Amino acid sequence: MNDRRTFLKQAAILGAGLPLASSLAKAAEKPAGMPLLQGPDKWRRLRELFPLDPDTAHFANFLITAHPRPVQEAIDHYRREIDRNPAALMDWESQYEWQREGEVRDWAARYLEVRPRQIALTGSTTEGLGMIYGGLQVGADQEILTTEHEHYSTHRTLAFRARRQGTQVRKLRLFRNPWEISKDQVLTTIDQAIRPQTRVLGMTWVHSGSGVKLPVGEIGEIVRRHNRDRDEHNRIIYVVDGVHGFGVDNQRFADFNCDYFISGVHKWMFGPRGTGLICAASEQMGPLVPTFATFSQDEDFATTMTRAATTPSNIAGPWARPSNCTCNWARPRSRRASTSSTTASRHVCWSTGRSSW
Ligand SMILES: Cc1ncc(COP(=O)(O)O)c(C=O)c1O
Repeated sequence: MNDRRTFLKQAAILGAGLPLASSLAKAAEKPAGMPLLQGPDKWRRLRELFPLDPDTAHFANFLITAHPRPVQEAIDHYRREIDRNPAALMDWESQYEWQREGEVRDWAARYLEVRPRQIALTGSTTEGLGMIYGGLQVGADQEILTTEHEHYSTHRTLAFRARRQGTQVRKLRLFRNPWEISKDQVLTTIDQAIRPQTRVLGMTWVHSGSGVKLPVGEIGEIVRRHNRDRDEHNRIIYVVDGVHGFGVDNQRFADFNCDYFISGVHKWMFGPRGTGLICAASEQMGPLVPTFATFSQDEDFATTMTRAATTPSNIAGPWARPSNCTCNWARPRSRRASTSSTTASRHVCWSTGRSSW
């Protein structure tokens, strides 16, 4: 599939007609699905999908999304299903959860253009960061190299790891002021900072503190060059916190040149609150030790690293209702439109989630 925009549109149309796989699901009222967003009215209809307060201009999607109507309907549907038959839906024998997880993985894999068993389902970016930075095997003589610009969740996870296992963590400063940053300077700084003992390199695609977007794919090429001379136990494992680019930029997993891409799905993807994913380069666990016991199949990366899915949010991931992809796809242009119209509307409050901005 070379045209992702066409693919996602087709996914939306297909999704509106998809039967829910389980006979259990037939019992409760089904979600209505996604209206087709076409024609001159499409932006108005897109906005109407969100139950947001119209007196506020909402610029805080980097915190958490409001559920668009198709997502909310899917969550309500699965909540009703669980309430009707809690044991049947959670029971190992029924494999109901596994099937729903599989559907979500299928859609996530199509979006990222990978195989479904490369996708683990998590509860947030923070959870994914904890499972990867906390779970990778790093020798006593090796280090984790990252930056001073990481999110609080990464800093804390690495601090816990250092305290627990004594792992060496080194942090780079990539720029002094975000407005002075240059791509060459970033790439050179990282290239020169990698040492023979660097086992993990951790970067954030888009920094929430400054809005800086790193050339994560080109950093991955540097990692590949260093790895050419390394054996499996010394290979640099490249980790990307991608939450603020995911669903914003039109990128596939291969574009990142990384080993693990970690993101929440409850921000720019408009997915259920309490969802996230990790996409791995390999379907095997490799140097990774799980953090949580899974209730998934426990066969490979995807099913060992997927946490217990006991909430409607987990099984109503945005790809379980694929029509949401179209909704997300329209987002960057919708943002521009709302910015210009709100500039002229002085009666609205602006909610950025950051009092200092
Ligand atoms: C760069 C970055 N990483 C991780 C997180 C944590 O995201 P989550 O709420 O999905 O745990 C945030 C939160 O905004 C963030 O800005």
